[in-house]
Amino acid sequence: MSTTPTPNLFGDTLMSDPHGAYAQLRETGPVHRTTTPDGAPVWLVTRYEDVRAALADPRLSLNKANAHTTGRYQSSMPPELDAHLLNMDPPDHTRLRRLVSKAFTARRIEGLRQRVQARTEELLDAFTRPPVDLMAALANPLPMAVICELLGVPQNARHDFRAWTNTLLAPAPDAAAESRTAMREMHRFLVGTITAKRSHPTDDLLSAMIEARDEHDSLTEPELLAMAFLILFAGYDNAVNLIGNAVLALLLHPHHLDAVLDGRTPVRDVEEAMRWNTPFTLGVRRFALEDLTIGDVTIPAGGRVWVSLLSANRDGTHFEAPDSFDPSRTPAHLGFGHGIHYCLGAPLARLEAETAITSLLDRLPTLRLSVPADELRWVPSFHKRALQELPVTW
Ligand code: HEM
Repeated sequence: MSTTPTPNLFGDTLMSDPHGAYAQLRETGPVHRTTTPDGAPVWLVTRYEDVRAALADPRLSLNKANAHTTGRYQSSMPPELDAHLLNMDPPDHTRLRRLVSKAFTARRIEGLRQRVQARTEELLDAFTRPPVDLMAALANPLPMAVICELLGVPQNARHDFRAWTNTLLAPAPDAAAESRTAMREMHRFLVGTITAKRSHPTDDLLSAMIEARDEHDSLTEPELLAMAFLILFAGYDNAVNLIGNAVLALLLHPHHLDAVLDGRTPVRDVEEAMRWNTPFTLGVRRFALEDLTIGDVTIPAGGRVWVSLLSANRDGTHFEAPDSFDPSRTPAHLGFGHGIHYCLGAPLARLEAETAITSLLDRLPTLRLSVPADELRWVPSFHKRALQELPVTW
């Protein structure tokens, strides 16, 4: 059967009220065909059970070579950086993830705890007088510092590293030349860093990835480079928005905030915040390897599919009272994905957010919004649920 016709999704509603827009879509059909701003047809999967099944379905590929739809497919990364996990299916993905996992261990993440804590305290030391924009003062700089620690970016390169990353992730309109320069500089820097760490390994993920081996295999140069970029693209912005969204969730629910403050609820709200205001709006992308039926809708082979994690996480057929923020539940949310591509950085993202929130509330137990909630501004994006600023006082 043909797909449920969907009005132009890429209008204002999806940006200004993604939760409302997706609630309607879930109601009216399991899959919706629409057209992206770059003219490509795309199928949107919105219900929890379908999203979970799609994430584990080997007929849905991550390799963009499998896209056969008309319209351009635009990747966020240049083609020479394609050799990364989120562009691969098994067996290539299996091999690469096995090697990367040898370096990206629970022990390495745990080893970062003290540095995450120290950097958080430093950032909080600068909170001299209210009001403060928490995005600029804490949520943004903490994950950047953590990525630098994780990859082993030397202190004297961190300023440039931060500037290139920000240009690449939030390119100013009409600043394509600037983005190209930032990409070139970042590329050159990472190639140089990989070369240096090959001869003088240090205690960081990049060195560990260079050394990672199994019986007969190791990561190639393009794979190392693409992994470093992937960590930057997958690990920075999402962590920023998780911290912002999680703090906001508490500030909007003072009784939950009180429960956290007097120790009745641990800072477990990170999981619930992830469910309630998932940083990914549009979702993760896949390409159908064959004709594929979800509900009564057939997605043709080569069709580009967006699997909406934000929508799944508010599905009332899976979560009771899905629109309520309730940190006492332990939600089986899909914010970190599901299946073989489940987020490799999830433990680190949790560590960052929990450290940021715990330390913030320890210091400033009277923290509250300094503007009315309806004046908060969200980044105009189809892809992410991200606060522009989070003005607070205490
Ligand atoms: C994969 C979300 C933080 C590294 C994923 C996926 C999601 C996700 C949904 C699966 C994508 C898919 O199936 O197509 C998030 C969120 C984060 C976060 C919401 C923060 C709140 C991080 C961090 C790192 C990281 C901090 C690393 C430092 C990765 C990597 C993958 C991945 C390497 C690819 C795994 C694979 O394909 O096997 N992430 N992530 N993420 N994430 Fe994260």
